[in-house]
Amino acid sequence: MSKYLITAALPYANGPLHIGHLAGCYLPSDIFVRYLRLQGRDVKYICGSDEHGVAITIRARKEGKTPQEIIDLYHTQIRDSFKEFGISFDIYHRTSDPIHHQTASDFFTTLYDKKLFLEEESEQYFDEEANLFLADRYITGTCPNCANPNAYGDQCERCGTSLSPKELINPQSQLSGQAPVLRTTKHWYLPLDKIQQNWLNDWIMSKEGYWKKNVFGQCKSWLDQGLQPRAVTRDLDWGVPVPIKGVTGKVLYVWFDAPIGYISATKALLPDTWEDYWKGKDSKLIHFIGKDNIVFHCIIFPAMLKEHGGYNLPENVPANEFLNLEGDKLSTSRNWAVWLHEYLKDFHDKQDVLRYALCASAPETKDNDFTWKEFQDRNNNELVAVLGNFINRTFVLTEKYFENKVPPISALSESDLDCLQILREAPAKLTDSIERYRFRESLAGVMDIARLGNKYLADNEPWKLYKTNPDRVATILNIALEISGFLSYIMEPFLPFTAIKLRAMLNLPSKQWSEVFGGNIFEAGHQLGTASLLFSKIEDDIILQQMEKLNASRTVLATSSTGNITKPTLNPFKETTSYDDFSKMDLRVGTIIAAEKVEKADKLLKLTIDTGLDQRTVVSGIALHFKTEEIIGQQVTLLANLAPRKIKGIESMGMILMAEDAEGKLIFMQPSNKTINGSSIS
Ligand code: MF3
Ligand code: ZN
Repeated sequence: MSKYLITAALPYANGPLHIGHLAGCYLPSDIFVRYLRLQGRDVKYICGSDEHGVAITIRARKEGKTPQEIIDLYHTQIRDSFKEFGISFDIYHRTSDPIHHQTASDFFTTLYDKKLFLEEESEQYFDEEANLFLADRYITGTCPNCANPNAYGDQCERCGTSLSPKELINPQSQLSGQAPVLRTTKHWYLPLDKIQQNWLNDWIMSKEGYWKKNVFGQCKSWLDQGLQPRAVTRDLDWGVPVPIKGVTGKVLYVWFDAPIGYISATKALLPDTWEDYWKGKDSKLIHFIGKDNIVFHCIIFPAMLKEHGGYNLPENVPANEFLNLEGDKLSTSRNWAVWLHEYLKDFHDKQDVLRYALCASAPETKDNDFTWKEFQDRNNNELVAVLGNFINRTFVLTEKYFENKVPPISALSESDLDCLQILREAPAKLTDSIERYRFRESLAGVMDIARLGNKYLADNEPWKLYKTNPDRVATILNIALEISGFLSYIMEPFLPFTAIKLRAMLNLPSKQWSEVFGGNIFEAGHQLGTASLLFSKIEDDIILQQMEKLNASRTVLATSSTGNITKPTLNPFKETTSYDDFSKMDLRVGTIIAAEKVEKADKLLKLTIDTGLDQRTVVSGIALHFKTEEIIGQQVTLLANLAPRKIKGIESMGMILMAEDAEGKLIFMQPSNKTINGSSIS
C-alpha cells in the first residue's frame, strides 16, 4: 500500500498565527490528511516550528529577549492554537531540537563531501556599529522593482520579488539604522544553475498540467530567468553551525535547514521507520504551503534532496494563494489580522465555523478575501440554516414520533430512491475533488447533501402524514437519518468537531469511509443519543465588535502581538547628500493618462504618463492599492531621468513617487493644486 508523507510549512516561531496561515496551508493539509486516514491510507502528517533565521533574532531584539525565549513562547502558543483548531499533526516538532541540528548538519556534510557546493568569497554588507554581517532581514532599503522603501534584503513583501541585499537602493541596517559598509566574507553556494541544466529543468517541466497552475507557473518563470547559485550559509550566531572544520561564526541559511526539519520531525516520530516514508518507492511526499514558499519547496529543497541522494522528490506541492482581510493584505506588523488565539477567546467552541468559512472561500486558485460579514453569513445562512436545521428537524421528528429510535423502512417511493441514489454517487465525486486538492468544491458537495436532506423533508412533509400513514413517516425519517449519518462521515475532514458531536447524537461509532458507503448506516430500532444544536446564530453585535476591534488596530497605533504599543515604524533619516547630487534628479509633474494591469503580476500596473514633453510607460508596484479607473487623470511626481528598467518584459521609463499613509496604504505625492504637466520640482 502506498504511503503518504504530508508536510505543512513550518511556521516561524516569531509571532502568533492568523487566519491567513490557517487558510493557506494548515487547514487544507488537515482536510487532506483526515481524508486519507478515512480512506485507510498509511499517512504521516508532519509539522513543527521554524526556529532559526533572522525573523527570530530580530523579534528577540525588538522585545529585549533572547531568541530562545522568543521561540519557547511562540512554539507553545502556535502548537496550542493548531491543536485547538483540530489540525491533526502526527508530530509538531521544532528545529531547535538536537535531532534537527544533527540531521541538518549531516545533510550539509554529505553535500559538502560530495563537493557539490561552490565556495566563494564576496563582499557583503556589514554593520560596523553592531559588528555583524547583515543577512536577509537585517537589511532594508528601497525595492528596485516597485520602489517600496521597506523592502528586505531577501525579499520585497510588497511586490513579492526575491532580492539580494546588494540590489536594494539605499540599504540600511535594521540594527543601527546606519548605512552599511562592504566587507569580504566566505560562503557556500548551492549551484542551482548547474542543477537546473542537469536535471531540475526537466523534472519541473514534467509537472506541467499535473501540479496546480499557479505553482507550475511560478516555477516556470524562475526557470525561464535562469537559476543562480544560492548561498546556503550565513554570518550569524543563531542557527545550525556550519559543520566544517575551522569555520566559526557561521550558520546554515534558515531556508537550508528548515525544510530538513520535515525529515527531522519524521525521525523524531518514527525513529525506526522514518526512511520508509522518505525513501520508499511507494511513498508519496506532498508539501502544503503558501505561495511565498513555492521556490523553496519546488526548486531548492528538491535540488538538495536529489543531490544528497536516496530521497524521494515531492509528488505534489499544492500551494495556495493569499487570503486578504476586509480587502487589505494581512499584516503582522500592521496588526491587520484575525489572530487565532484571539478568535478562540471570542468564539468559544466555534472552531468549525472558522474552518468552514475559510475552506468555503479558500484562496485555492487566486487571492481571496475574508470579511466578517461573509463569516456571519456562512454561519447563519449555511451552517445554521442548512446543515443545523436539517439535523435538528430530523431529530425533533424522530423524538416526537418514534421515541428517538431509528424507524423501519417500508415501500420506497420514487423520491426515496432518487435521494438514496444521490447518496450512493456522492462519495466518488467527493473523493475526486479532494484528490485534486479542490477543497472548496468538496465542501460545497457536503453542503449539497444537507440541502438534499432539507429538500427531502420539505417535499415529503412527514409532519402532515403521521395520523393517516405512520409507516410512510417511518420510511421518510429512516432516510432522513441515513442522510444525517452519511453527513456525519463526509463532513469529518472539514468539520471534525461537528462530526464527533453529530455522531454522538446519532450514537454512531467513527468508521472508515469504505465501511460506511454503499450500504445502510442504521438498522431499524437503533437508539439515538441526546440531541443538541450543532450551530448557533451569530448576531450583528458580535460581528460589529470584531469590525471595531480591527478598525481600532488600524487607526490608533499598531499594537504588537505581545501587547506592547509601538509607533508605526518611520525610517531614520538617510545620510547627508549634496545639492549637486540632488539636482541630478529630474523630478516632474505628470498625469496618469492610462493604466492597465500587468499580466501575471498582481502587484504591477503599467501606467502611461503624460510628462508634457512625451508620453511614456512607467511600471509601478501599486496594483494592490488602486483600481485602474480611479487613478486615471491623477497628477503625480515622476523621477523622469531614472535609467530605464525592464520589468516583466516592459520597459519602464522612470518612477512615480509615493508615500504611505498611517495605515500603510500607498498615496501619490501630488501637487496641492493642479498644475501643468512637465512642471519641474525643485
Ligand atoms: N518558516 C517559513 C515561513 O513561515 C516556512 C518554512 S517551511 C520549511 O515562511 F520548509 F522550510 F520548513
Ligand atoms: Zn518590490
